[in-house]
Amino acid sequence: MAKVTVVGAGKYGSTTVQRLAEMDIADEVVMTDIVEGLPQGLALDMNQSRPIEGFETRVVGSNGYQETAGSDVVVITAGVPRKPGMSRMDLLETNAKIVGEVTRKVADASPEAVLIVVSNPLDEMTSLAAEVSGFPRERVMGQAGMLDTARFKHFLAEELGTSPSRVEAMTLGSHGDTMVPVPSMVKVDGKPLTEVADAETIERLVQRTRDGGAEVVALLKSGSAYYAPSSAAAAMVAAVLGDTGEVMPVCAWVTGQYGIDGVYLGVPAKLGRAGVAEVVELPLTDTELAELREAAEAVRSKQADVAKLIG
Ligand code: NAI
Ligand code: 2OP
Repeated sequence: MAKVTVVGAGKYGSTTVQRLAEMDIADEVVMTDIVEGLPQGLALDMNQSRPIEGFETRVVGSNGYQETAGSDVVVITAGVPRKPGMSRMDLLETNAKIVGEVTRKVADASPEAVLIVVSNPLDEMTSLAAEVSGFPRERVMGQAGMLDTARFKHFLAEELGTSPSRVEAMTLGSHGDTMVPVPSMVKVDGKPLTEVADAETIERLVQRTRDGGAEVVALLKSGSAYYAPSSAAAAMVAAVLGDTGEVMPVCAWVTGQYGIDGVYLGVPAKLGRAGVAEVVELPLTDTELAELREAAEAVRSKQADVAKLIG
């Protein structure tokens, strides 16, 4: 019996639960939040869509962790999202307290789970969850690269007038200013990007991808994106539950790959039932490799500091 928990029943958490339920890949999806009635009400509403959508997954809402016990995968979305003008780093102190507290409870209730962190700032919160849970690092990962890659593919497809399904792309590095979209890996309708777009266009789309989250925040005025983010998290849960071995860009613990060691960073990783089965090394250009190493150093110092915040 497969069981998934999503912590946080806000925009990101609730849409992730809905997607997982409709994918019908778990027997039970539990959604927990500190706001009384919110997860229960959302669960009731989602379960009432079952006769129409035709899924079997049972959605459970809760304000505690008893119902989450024995989960195979736990997605941590609890925290506050940013407001227009805020960077993801502005959320650090508030979300470190929240993520630290919920990770302790999750780890007690589901000691064998794979953790997928989405709360921001992502690279730091993933490192914090690994520290607090004490889980083997391959069982703790963060979601950012799947979303940033999807945004990059969307912008490329729109610009070049094709379907996103005909775009291959990868985004690595941090979920922030040192994000590393990788133009050398991009193929559009089977052709290398440099054959179908000029340097100015490529740089513009790379920068728009780096700013992809802020662009949505500025339009929404309150809260941040959740449709594409929840698709990204749900795809990762499916890869883990299905033990698919798919290679996805995720925030994973890097142990020497790309000449980088001992840091959580966005890299391509093979996902399976045990979490990250392998960090995959792709042939990057010298510039892309230098950018990835720069991203690693930028997040390394923050990750070292972040554990101190929760005491
Ligand atoms: P939201 O404000 O809609 O929901 C957050 C939920 O967390 C609220 O329902 C709140 O009650 C709950 N919460 C707060 N403290 C809690 C605790 N101690 N235990 C359980 N639940 C608690 O925010 P939204 O849009 O769902 O975003 C959630 C997080 O995800 C934010 O930190 C946001 O920045 C991040 N995010 C990350 C992305 C990524 O690619 N990694 C993309 C989009 C958002
Ligand atoms: C995003 O990229 C805010 O991290 C969030 O949409």
